[in-house]
Amino acid sequence: MAPKTSPEIGGMGHSVKRKEDPRFLRGLGNYVDDVSLPGMLYLDIVRSPYAHAKINNIDISKATAIPGVLAVITGKDLEKYNLHWMPTLMSDTQMVLPVDKVMYQAQEVAAVLATDRYIAADGVEAVEIDYDPLPVVVDPKKALLPDAPVLRTDKKDKTDNHIWHWEWGNRDATDQLFKEAEVTVKEDIYIPRIHVSSIETCGCVAHFDKVRGKLTVWMTTQAPHAIRTVFALVAGHVGLSEEKIQIISPDIGGGFGGKVPVYPGYVIAVAASVLTGKPVKWIEDRMENIQADSFARDYHITAELAGKKDGTLTALRIKTLADHGYTDAAANPSKFPAGLFHVCTGSYDLKAAHVEVDGVYTNKPPGGIAYRCSFRVTEAVHTIERMADLMAHELGMDAAEFRMKNFIKPEQFPYKSALDWEYDSGDYGKALQLAMDRVGYNELRKEQVEKRARGELMGIGISSFTEIVGAGPSKHFDILGIKMFDSAEIRVHPTGKVIARFGTKSQGQGHETTYAQIIAEELGFPVDGIAVEEGDTDTAPYGLGTYASRSTPVAAAACAVACRKIKDKARKIAAYLLEAHEDDLEWEVGKFFVKGSPDRAKTIQEISLAAYTNHPPGMEAGLEAVNYYDPPNLTYPFGSYICVVDIDKGTGEVKIRRFVAVDDCGNIINPMIVEGQIHGGLTMGLGPALYEEIQYDESGNILQGSFMNYLLPTAVETPNWETDKTVTPSPHHPLGAKGVGESATVGAPAAIVNAVVDALWHLGVRHVDIPITSAKVWKLLRDAGVRE
Ligand code: CDP
Repeated sequence: MAPKTSPEIGGMGHSVKRKEDPRFLRGLGNYVDDVSLPGMLYLDIVRSPYAHAKINNIDISKATAIPGVLAVITGKDLEKYNLHWMPTLMSDTQMVLPVDKVMYQAQEVAAVLATDRYIAADGVEAVEIDYDPLPVVVDPKKALLPDAPVLRTDKKDKTDNHIWHWEWGNRDATDQLFKEAEVTVKEDIYIPRIHVSSIETCGCVAHFDKVRGKLTVWMTTQAPHAIRTVFALVAGHVGLSEEKIQIISPDIGGGFGGKVPVYPGYVIAVAASVLTGKPVKWIEDRMENIQADSFARDYHITAELAGKKDGTLTALRIKTLADHGYTDAAANPSKFPAGLFHVCTGSYDLKAAHVEVDGVYTNKPPGGIAYRCSFRVTEAVHTIERMADLMAHELGMDAAEFRMKNFIKPEQFPYKSALDWEYDSGDYGKALQLAMDRVGYNELRKEQVEKRARGELMGIGISSFTEIVGAGPSKHFDILGIKMFDSAEIRVHPTGKVIARFGTKSQGQGHETTYAQIIAEELGFPVDGIAVEEGDTDTAPYGLGTYASRSTPVAAAACAVACRKIKDKARKIAAYLLEAHEDDLEWEVGKFFVKGSPDRAKTIQEISLAAYTNHPPGMEAGLEAVNYYDPPNLTYPFGSYICVVDIDKGTGEVKIRRFVAVDDCGNIINPMIVEGQIHGGLTMGLGPALYEEIQYDESGNILQGSFMNYLLPTAVETPNWETDKTVTPSPHHPLGAKGVGESATVGAPAAIVNAVVDALWHLGVRHVDIPITSAKVWKLLRDAGVRE
């Protein structure tokens, strides 16, 4: 059998040898792929070799002639049920399967349903499609030119490729400060398109039980409840009602924002199962995942910073083009089409700021997902940390001293930023000082002077970032109208064992451990008697899921509040059992005792049993609580990272010699998990800084369509991360904790770029766009006349 994928996809003649090792190709650890049901059918997808083309005809006759191929589903089939388009999370529309044209290379065009995975792949091979190529737009700047072809011809009255304009801040005050400024710096910064590369690809098993009329979908999703509601809203008219939909997100091998959107494959599998009454499995292979799933970033930024000659910053002005591909499928809170990009004043006390973003359509897959980031915070941090560094260098000031001068001071918290955020707590100077002490900053600066005199290239880069996580307070945050709270439901059994369920969904962050720890610390139950469950919409309380480091700020808070409700009831039961007034009881983890008489005590286990066997008259039996937590504010974790690089003049290779990361996520629940989050996050910051980028040629062919040329850092490239911490509790979180999962991915790239620019500044280099490949640095060196 010939390899399945057409050589055009990816533009590099690769092939997917599906029979060799399908598990590997579909990503390691795909738990959904392990779901196997009797009579299960397999779905495989025909993808477009063109980035923009009219579909003249789809000939399925050869495919359906293959024994075992049961059907080939096209857009026209779905159109009969009005399921050929679906809404995106940003209220745009996305094709499930096209009816008349394709909009990006590797887009789904038809789906083959077969009795076996390999027969489905053979069926894909046999579908013949007649296309007429259309003009392609890949550059968002060109997409906005008056003569650019209009891409979304499906939208009546649409005459251009502009999606939305969004702005925030005080334009007049900002412009005035720029007029008055003694010094300004300006830079174009491109933050390239990158792709979430979870170890496990996406997929689902959809099972519509005709007898019970119930749809169960095991799927790789970070937000099972939101998916259930979206399915009910989109497919209610074909009989899928929310109480008859069960979404199960089993253990999933990494999400990082890429498993928030609904991909066409999920919808087609559901439609196929409803039509056939059989379970249907769809699992992407590795290249489908990288070529067709939602992308991150792709921000073209022009930033300006104003200040005084003594180094005091005053104002920030930003204009940005956001390339969203052919549809805006970002998973942002509804009110904020550019996510939380307006946290871009960072850790600095600015008088005014103004930010403008324009969303643009191009012939690329949907973009704008929050890649291990709280909705565009990586882009914001990268911009302000590059600009602050640029200003410090321009003024000839030390980058650390410059930051110390401009930081929001500890006594200014809670701090209202120039772009309206209320930062909860912070001590930025302390974190930077600790990082400087750990790395030996002053000695390194001396070494740099000596090395520069010898013609050697060494740089020291700082990134003192502020994150914003925990979406969110429901007054500002919703997704498709669903308010962004989260939930915990804790039930104590008579024998003192606990089951706790949450609206979040771990993808490897260790929620089972940390939630159990919170319950153990709040109520005194041993952790090994606490079962933690997430991800099954039939049992877990409604929640918005896990992304944007929101689990600790929101669901862990819900967990603490639910525990405290249980403790209040336990106190009443203990008072009844001890024949004491509840005000006379004291709590020591695991038991209530009468003040002054520690022997008169009831353990939490005794109280648990009594809740079902001997509870006070008039009180409801049982010991359980639910909390839907609506946070009063977001949490603002922060940190200071210092990166030391040496650059090879001959090859342009950037070698990271040291990387010290000081993080502050408030009170820490589990130090080992937090350290793991930071190590992983730093490595996911290193990748985009030095290696990762998805590019397209003029015809819309993806140039990095597989791991052959989309480079990810391995253990070989990854430096020894040196981590440390400060602890500045969040004043409004019940546990004083802030989120941490994304801090390092958000904060690391700027430290690396700043180190590289610091090494090359004396050669006239002012900025390098990520990824900083050896080839880019080599060219900068040659342009500056540097020879080995
Ligand atoms: O939402 P997500 O789980 O991705 O991010 P997070 O809330 O930052 O939490 C990541 C992991 O770190 C979870 O297991 C948390 O419980 C843990 N964590 C912690 O132990 N202490 C903190 N202050 C923050 C997170």
